[in-house]
Amino acid sequence: GVIYEIYARSFQDTNGDGLGDLEGVITRLDYLVGLGIDAIWLSPIYRSPMRDFGYDVQDHVAIDPLFGDLATFDRLVREAHARSLRVILDYIPNHCSDQHLWFRESRSNRTNPRRDWFIWRDPAPDGGPPNNWRSEFGGPAWTFDAATRQYYYHAFLPSQPDFNWRHPHVRAAMVNVLRFWLDHHVDGFRVDAIHHLFEAETLADNPPNPDWRAGEPPAEALLRDHTVDQAEVHDAVAEMRRLTDTYAGDRALIGEAYLPVDRLMAYYGSALDGFHLPFNFHLMTIPWQPLAVARLVEDYEAKLPAGGWPNWVLGNHDRSRLASRVGPGQVKVAAMLLLTLRGTPTLYQGDELGLEDVPIPPERVRDPWELNVPGLGLGRDPVRTPMVWSPAPNAGFSGSDPWLPLSPGWRTINAARQAADPRSTLSLYRQLLALRRDHPALTHGSYRTVGATDQILAYERQTDDERLQIVLNMSGDVVRWTVPASTLMAASGDRVGSRLDGDLLLQPGEGLLLEILDGRPPRPAIGDLPSP
Ligand code: NOJ
Repeated sequence: GVIYEIYARSFQDTNGDGLGDLEGVITRLDYLVGLGIDAIWLSPIYRSPMRDFGYDVQDHVAIDPLFGDLATFDRLVREAHARSLRVILDYIPNHCSDQHLWFRESRSNRTNPRRDWFIWRDPAPDGGPPNNWRSEFGGPAWTFDAATRQYYYHAFLPSQPDFNWRHPHVRAAMVNVLRFWLDHHVDGFRVDAIHHLFEAETLADNPPNPDWRAGEPPAEALLRDHTVDQAEVHDAVAEMRRLTDTYAGDRALIGEAYLPVDRLMAYYGSALDGFHLPFNFHLMTIPWQPLAVARLVEDYEAKLPAGGWPNWVLGNHDRSRLASRVGPGQVKVAAMLLLTLRGTPTLYQGDELGLEDVPIPPERVRDPWELNVPGLGLGRDPVRTPMVWSPAPNAGFSGSDPWLPLSPGWRTINAARQAADPRSTLSLYRQLLALRRDHPALTHGSYRTVGATDQILAYERQTDDERLQIVLNMSGDVVRWTVPASTLMAASGDRVGSRLDGDLLLQPGEGLLLEILDGRPPRPAIGDLPSP
């Protein structure tokens, strides 16, 4: 299946407050069906003070009024299921809001039964924080509570205190949260910041990062040796998985962990009893070069545990947009890569239109990371701007001013325009997603690199019945390349004719999806294929 991330605040507004809502998601389900995805992952919709836009949960089992209510959520799930779309929720086990009842109780006094639900420590002898750990969003990871004279730990904002997952009641309470939503028929969870779940009990200082350079995120000046990826995390994930597995039907657990490939693999669980999919973000961090991509794919495939299923991500609400990272000329090649590698792809809303990062004027900055650590380009607002649906006012997103500016080109680059243009990025996504449904080789076929140069990446996907070859010109040059006798199934550029054989000149950013004939007669010409 193919997962589509909906950043709910920015997908579709229906009540005119400039913010997306659940009703809006319902109205756009048919767009998603037309696109051809299988599951939506909804960014957090729980009651929250929104300091980190919902990743600071105040009540895990209530919908924030800005998004709607539980009845609307249930209707969304029903409407999605009626269209064979799965619904995956964001689950945030590492921390909650400082406004959550559990934290308010915890902070009320040292003897409160919930005191140890969070990580409280005495000050260092000089009165300062217990150690040098840093918040991901800048500043120390410890905040002093004057009333109870201890520090609490927060991997993110001071308003996002970390849970103490060593406390059995925390585990039970947080697993119950999963149960609540499973009982509301959700199909799975994207589990936030899972590598942060435990910190070393020794409270040892994190060592300096010798590779850190000025201008990089301040939190990265230290290695996270004692604050992420601690061994106990796997047990907690297995507990989440055990619960999920007690529900009938297919449920997916997806873990968010920014870790090197070999450490990531442990998140499948030692007996595949962990995540179905530990998010693989590596395509977003390596250089956009054929050799680097080939190396990554091979390394990842080689390290995958037996029975583990791969996955690939090219964008999300935290990282610079795909089009801005790889350049507009590579957007279609990127789509072809993402949708033809072996493994579950996750798309981020708007990437199917080739949207770029949107410049945010200083007075409109909303992301706490940018506000805390300004000027380094860490802000995530540029990738969270509203979906651009049509040339209607506010791009069809809202009846009033959106909470973040629209992408400047919205009058021409929008979903309606692209849907009507068979050569648009959206049409290519639709075509590729349709081909994935019809060609098992694109889903469970084997992967083999055929060639990787400075400019071209070519690979095959093969089952007993079909052999597909994908050829991607990842450069800005015209490149001569030799292909086997084949039928052209999809192309990112203007190539006409269905039959290919031998030497070709690939245009900059041109990608081809070929079915190798192996002696079979060619299929109908590309122009005769059903239009997307
Ligand atoms: C990862 C989420 O994707 C990000 O948006 C959030 O700020 C942090 N986790 C903290 O929950």
